Amino acid sequence: MVTVTDFRNLASTAAALAAEHLETLAERPVYRPVPPADREWLVGQPLPEEGRPLDELLEDVSRRVMGYPMGNGHPGFFGWVNSPPSPAGVLVTPLAAALNPSCAGGEHAGPLLERTVVRWLAELVGYPGGGLLTSGASMATIVALAAARHRAATEDGWDVRAEGLAGRPPLVLYVSAEGHSCLRKAAELLGIGTRWLRTVPVDAEFRMDPDALAELVRADRAAGLRPFCVAASAGTVNTGAVDPLDEIADVAAAHGLWLHVDGAYGALGALAADLADGFAGLARADSLALDPHKWLGVPVDCGCALLRDPDRARAAFSLVPAYLRDPDADEFGWFAEYGPEQTRPFRALRVWATIAHLGRAGVAGLVERTVGLAGRLAQLVREAEDFELLAPVATSIVAFRHRPAGGGADLNRELPAAVNARGRVFLTGTNLGGTEALRACILHPDTTEDDLVALLAEIRAAAAELAQLSSTQTSSPRTATG
Ligand SMILES: Cc1ncc(COP(=O)(O)O)c(C=O)c1O
Repeated sequence: MVTVTDFRNLASTAAALAAEHLETLAERPVYRPVPPADREWLVGQPLPEEGRPLDELLEDVSRRVMGYPMGNGHPGFFGWVNSPPSPAGVLVTPLAAALNPSCAGGEHAGPLLERTVVRWLAELVGYPGGGLLTSGASMATIVALAAARHRAATEDGWDVRAEGLAGRPPLVLYVSAEGHSCLRKAAELLGIGTRWLRTVPVDAEFRMDPDALAELVRADRAAGLRPFCVAASAGTVNTGAVDPLDEIADVAAAHGLWLHVDGAYGALGALAADLADGFAGLARADSLALDPHKWLGVPVDCGCALLRDPDRARAAFSLVPAYLRDPDADEFGWFAEYGPEQTRPFRALRVWATIAHLGRAGVAGLVERTVGLAGRLAQLVREAEDFELLAPVATSIVAFRHRPAGGGADLNRELPAAVNARGRVFLTGTNLGGTEALRACILHPDTTEDDLVALLAEIRAAAAELAQLSSTQTSSPRTATG
């Protein structure tokens, strides 16, 4: 039994742990490997027969968990697309857990607040639609493509929910070569099949080529297939490129395609004055994925599926058995009708707190600042003889490579692990049309120019270490054969 007094004391301890973590993490390594003993504890604990007191558990968390973060809270973290948590989001997370509602629907704070935050997210990027919060963009993409699939079938006079896809002309989905892998996963899951997923070429700036898209659609239609959806990107994961959305929307309109925009990472870029023009056409999308747990910093998990006509998602998913009937529901119904999840967490509180704390101006300021830093990093890369910029900066991602004299062919593939092991900064790599690349994604409000300078210095130092290691290996006599 946990008494009220115990709980209050323990809650203060937990709050102090969280505060200390956030206060001190910039002084610690961005990342450090988990030592074998703690790793064994993390992965190998036997199921406890008897329970233990909560203060002991907090001690375990303090000693064995808090010391091994992923790194994304740190201002020197440039990996993937993972932001630090917004303080407002961290603050309200335990409160959402204490309430512990299911936001499937109903007349209580969780689903009601979700309606506001979904509207706020749409308004922030100027998108005329509504929708629902999801676990992330992967789930938002499933919602969007299911709605697109359902619309195509309905237009052709059949019911995909009742009949499935068998015996119908294959539905074809168009994705650029730089589209995120979650699009392919969704296509596989929804029975589209990767065979019917067309890869549209990109231009020199890694943006989808709308003419090539139109050509592919025409060829597929002539072959008796059913082009149904194009998924464009507003901020690709590799380079942050924003596809020419307006032109793609023209092609979609001309050929009756559903236009989905993956703005999971980049849609908030529309808030940056210098970038806004590049997002023209976003409002023409039939659906938009936008992840609050990326640039906005809402603690994981939180994505959002927005649809120009949310009833398209409802048509694709709504299933209300007798035990879920709600005679008091208004015309919106339940969130569970708009996607695959039934029991849904109270994500809205984290989104609400984050946006309410920052305001539109604060969100725009965060975006502008990080975009500015990305521009600065690109400049440092351009000015350095041993670095090469591989893509223009379209949002807050910089794709580049290190080219020191005598650097090996695999250098840029090996660099991320070597850089991260040093602990000062963290970055990840990718492959851009066959070229091994480094990419730095800047999302942290506290990242500074010094961190950018340190990033390049750390890459140089790690490259020197790798060169040293390989010269030691080649010069040392072989001690064994076979
Ligand atoms: C552009 C883009 N789309 C989609 C996703 C998938 O999002 P999630 O991991 O939230 O499912 C990501 C993840 O980084 C992304 O960067």
